[in-house]
Amino acid sequence: MQQIQFFRLACLTITALPVFAQAPAANKTPQRSPFLISRPVPDQASIDRGRAIYVPTCGFCHGSNATGAEGPDLVRSFVALRDEGGDEIGPVIKAGRPGMPAFPQLTNEQIHDIAAFLRNRQQDAIDRNAYQIKNVNTGNITKGKTYFAAQCAACHSAEKDLKGIGGKYEDAVLLGKIVYPTGRGVTPAARRTVTVTANGKVSSGRLEYLDDFEVALKDSTGEYHGFQRGPAVKVEVKDPLSGHEKLMKAFSDTDLHDVLAYLVTLK
Ligand code: HEC
Ligand code: HEC
Repeated sequence: MQQIQFFRLACLTITALPVFAQAPAANKTPQRSPFLISRPVPDQASIDRGRAIYVPTCGFCHGSNATGAEGPDLVRSFVALRDEGGDEIGPVIKAGRPGMPAFPQLTNEQIHDIAAFLRNRQQDAIDRNAYQIKNVNTGNITKGKTYFAAQCAACHSAEKDLKGIGGKYEDAVLLGKIVYPTGRGVTPAARRTVTVTANGKVSSGRLEYLDDFEVALKDSTGEYHGFQRGPAVKVEVKDPLSGHEKLMKAFSDTDLHDVLAYLVTLK
């Protein structure tokens, strides 16, 4: 639940950031072909919302332009080309695929927006790649370094875990990671752990499952332990990403862009 709320918050936060922009405003707006591959032409607000969800959530596997990375190109995918308003991609997103996690927390509205974004990308490909994500790296490196020392250095180091981070992700993806660092990059260090005290016996390990009735963990030997929850069972969950959750409420757009500018220098 916490994860889901976190996710929603992340989406809201990202949506609220005016970091993504349209194709560079050249002196003349490129003439668009008629929308060849979609009858209902997606509206711009939906495309923008979809992009804000897509880039940090899907972009690191499918490329922030959707032309593919570890995951397939979604501009040329038949599933995505056939899609109308999320009807084809929705089931894939909700259920996942081998090598792709499920995103059951995404609402139909959000999927509809992602579909609008992808449709726009396909159209842009037809219009010969008019699309670009505007440079998001607009912050001040020195201020970002100071901010990092104050807000991030308790958990991160520019010489250790974040060494080379600037070369690891595209800037827009990195921005998403600062706000919400999950997805493929999530290492065991980022997983939630839990301590369960039941009948005086204490067990702890990686959190495998949690709802109002049950909790399950895997201990350090890899053994699975499930418990019924109740008044006599104490459950303590530790989330290593809670630091990001707190920061997300604290940092301003300027802080975020400054710290991004600094991280980009860590090559
Ligand atoms: C961890 C990497 C990863 C992430 C994150 C991810 N995907 Fe995927 N996705 C894949 C892989 C790998 C496949 C191919 C799976 C297969 O071969 O069936 C795939 C397949 C798909 C397909 C089917 C393409 C086709 O032509 O069959 C769609 C649509 C899709 N992803 C959309 C998304 C969307 C939208 C998101 C974000 C909400 C997302 N994916 C997030 C890795 C990822
Ligand atoms: C309370 C601890 C904590 C704080 C504070 C914190 N982070 Fe993190 N951060 C983490 C954890 C845990 C991860 C997940 C690490 C992993 O997957 O290995 C992470 C992941 C990341 C990642 C993704 C790394 C990758 O390789 O994908 C970035 C980027 C990042 N944090 C940036 C920041 C920035 C910038 C700040 C300060 C504004 C910050 N973090 C503050 C704990 C923290």
